[in-house]
Amino acid sequence: MQTIFRGKHFITLEEWSNEEIDTLLDVSYELKRAFAMDLPTEYLPRKTVFLMFFEQSTRTRNSMEAGITQLGGHAHFLDVSNMQIAHGETAKDTAVILSRMGHAIACRNCFWKQGNRYLREMAAASTVPIINMQDDLYHPLQAIADLMTIQEKRGRNTRNLKVSVIWAYATTHKKPISVPVSQVLLFPRYGMDVTLAYPEGYDLPDWVIEKARQNAARYGGSLRITHDQEEAYRDADVVFPKNWGNWVTDEDPEVRSAALEANRHWKCTVERMKLTARDALYMHALPADRVNEVEDAVIDGPQSVVYDEAENRLHTAKAVMALTMGGR
Ligand code: CP
Repeated sequence: MQTIFRGKHFITLEEWSNEEIDTLLDVSYELKRAFAMDLPTEYLPRKTVFLMFFEQSTRTRNSMEAGITQLGGHAHFLDVSNMQIAHGETAKDTAVILSRMGHAIACRNCFWKQGNRYLREMAAASTVPIINMQDDLYHPLQAIADLMTIQEKRGRNTRNLKVSVIWAYATTHKKPISVPVSQVLLFPRYGMDVTLAYPEGYDLPDWVIEKARQNAARYGGSLRITHDQEEAYRDADVVFPKNWGNWVTDEDPEVRSAALEANRHWKCTVERMKLTARDALYMHALPADRVNEVEDAVIDGPQSVVYDEAENRLHTAKAVMALTMGGR
């Protein structure tokens, strides 16, 4: 069991070993039990985390803000349009200044080909941990909550669990690829047999597929890719039908496109859920584009665990902060 985390950046789970992730999950379970019993968990008294948002958020912002309060510390919500970043202040200078004043810097920047680079620039200059609240490539806070939820529902041994990450039609905005990327990289490390399904043109980067296959080979999981959504639903134990943008093949940020409209039929329906294994879990990072991505009868139905999944964002975010900002 790994126990030394203080100061460690949380930018991608690819930089956390399975042993470290297991500690993170253990601490998440412990914090969740304490939360259920209303026990004090003030592991970070007088500690400040800065929360920098380039985009909107419900779950991430509130899990971090409520989380640090429950750990005895305090969060500063920073809308970057009200920071000197809006006048061109650099990632480096911002990271150095905030490092001098607090104990961690969390940031959400999902702009394609910019977000992860921005976090890396901050990490190079920061003397406190950088926590990724979602960038253009990774959403580790979501992936760890997804893993915790799967383990709660199906047991901590997830070997050979059939998990399908499936593209779905949505029109709200052109979404980052960071959720499916983080899932296909992480789940094979826990022995899961992952199916990635998407229409032509909605590929994840080649390096992601290569790395996911390496992870599968090393840890005993697998990854297959299909462009047939029914195939991905068939016999799956867990399904993640969710939209992502075709950033790899088309960098235009406009949400509406001919490619998108050609794939309106990629949707999680009651009929498609009948193809899954008995009692399969329906999961979604949220927010969901109801009607377009998924039928209400599925997301509000008995197989849906989306609210448990969202609650686990709190417990896992607290574990990340407790370990990287405190601990030893
Ligand atoms: N899943 C997720 O990150 O939700 P928010 O965008 O509301 O933070």
